[in-house]
Amino acid sequence: MSVQETEREVILTHPTNKATAVKILKYGATVYSWTLDGQEQLWLSTAAHMDGSKPVRGGIPLVFPVFGKNETDELLSKLPQHGLARNSTWEFLGQTKSNPPTVQFGLNKNIANEEMTKLWGEEFNLILTIELGADFLKTAIEVENPSTSKDLKFNWLFHTYLRIPDIEDTMVSNLVGMKVHDKLLHEAFIDKHPVIQFHQETDVVYEKVTDERVVQVVRQGHPLHTVKRDNLPDVVVWNPWTEKSGGMADFEPKSGFKEMVCIEPGYVTDFVTLQPGKKWNASQILSKDKLKYQAIQ
Ligand code: BG6
Repeated sequence: MSVQETEREVILTHPTNKATAVKILKYGATVYSWTLDGQEQLWLSTAAHMDGSKPVRGGIPLVFPVFGKNETDELLSKLPQHGLARNSTWEFLGQTKSNPPTVQFGLNKNIANEEMTKLWGEEFNLILTIELGADFLKTAIEVENPSTSKDLKFNWLFHTYLRIPDIEDTMVSNLVGMKVHDKLLHEAFIDKHPVIQFHQETDVVYEKVTDERVVQVVRQGHPLHTVKRDNLPDVVVWNPWTEKSGGMADFEPKSGFKEMVCIEPGYVTDFVTLQPGKKWNASQILSKDKLKYQAIQ
């Protein structure tokens, strides 16, 4: 059987390779493990809360309807950092395809975390589709505004924690020439570095990166991860390094920052504004791919 459901999670196994699998916690509809031919591709903290008491530290937490902590919007500023999707138990909607195994999860105002829907009372329907290919993992989101009278304003982001052997030996490519907002320096500039390297805490948002730019995580000339995006123009690159990870109780082992980098495709610089009755779709595809250097446009 390629799809197994338990009370807490859903596991997909690829029909042609039992060592390729994805595990999804119903809490947050969080993908917390993706093994490709026996090799784990995602980073998960050993202290991650898997019991629904806190968002999962690792895997692919889902960020909606707000990225970060909003201070200005009348409604969204009431929500905690990164919104409510990662703090809500999603409904498992079932399997939609057998090969590649594909499943869906749903979330709406009625079943989302009540403490949070009290703070932000907008109506929304989310459908997350997870497709496990023999050599890729696709996560796709559909946001619907079911209201008949009000616009729905939101951010979306896949907060993807990629597993790597050594952060100091890792580069992120194909973002050269893009405008980047450095959240630590509170500055925006054009990044002219041919690749991103890591020697300290990094928390940056590359803005309006066209879908054709394929972001790759590269080590010693070999791509470890390839991230393709559809309708997700912003790319957050995050590594907490020593001090920040030291302050996070659910980040273990403390040396774990060396083995992860977050590449987070999202729609976060602007808000999506969805008119009543309309739908919005976006996706990310993770894979291993040939090394691809793309020229500055
Ligand atoms: C990133 C943000 O997306 O998420 C960082 O850019 C933030 O600023 C990080 O620190 C982790 O957030 P959290 O809420 O999961 O600790």
